[in-house]
Amino acid sequence: MNNSGDRTFVMIKPDGVSRGLVGEIVSRIEATGLRVEQMRLERLSQEIVEENYAEHRGKEFFEPTVAYVTSGPVVLMIVTGTGAQAIMRKLMGATNPTDAAPGTIRGDFALDISANVIHGSDSPESAAREIALFFGGREA
Ligand code: CMP
Repeated sequence: MNNSGDRTFVMIKPDGVSRGLVGEIVSRIEATGLRVEQMRLERLSQEIVEENYAEHRGKEFFEPTVAYVTSGPVVLMIVTGTGAQAIMRKLMGATNPTDAAPGTIRGDFALDISANVIHGSDSPESAAREIALFFGGREA
C-alpha cells in the first residue's frame, strides 16, 4: 500500500512560537523526509481550541490548556508523508516533558506539560478531524 499521502495535523504552541523555535521544529520535521504541505501563523479563538480538545472536556487541565493555547499566536501545519502521524508522535516525544526522551522536540525544549511546545494528532482519525477543523475549506 502506498501511504505517501498520509497527512497529520501539527501545532507549534505559543511557547514554541515566542521562543523562536519554529525554524528548528520545521527543520526537524523536514529532515525526516516528511513535508510541510500547509502552514500558517494565527492567534486561535477559544471556540476552535475547545473543539480541538473536546475529548478532554471535564478534565482538570481542560480550561488551563485552552487558556494557554489561546494566549498567543501558534503555527498550524499539515504535515505529509508515509506514516506522518506516527512519525510526528515519535519526533515530538511524550506529552509530559518529564517522560520525553532527549532528542525529541519536547525532551529537548520543554519542561512543562502545558507549555510543551508542540501538539500533534494522536491517531489517523484525529488527524483527519483536526485537519478539517483548522484547514477545512482553505485547501487550495
Ligand atoms: P496536547 O498533545 O496538545 O493535547 C492536550 C494537551 O493538554 C497536552 O498536549 C498538554 O499540553 C495538556 N495537558 C496539561 N495537563 C495535562 C495532563 N495532566 N495530561 C495530559 N495533557 C495535559
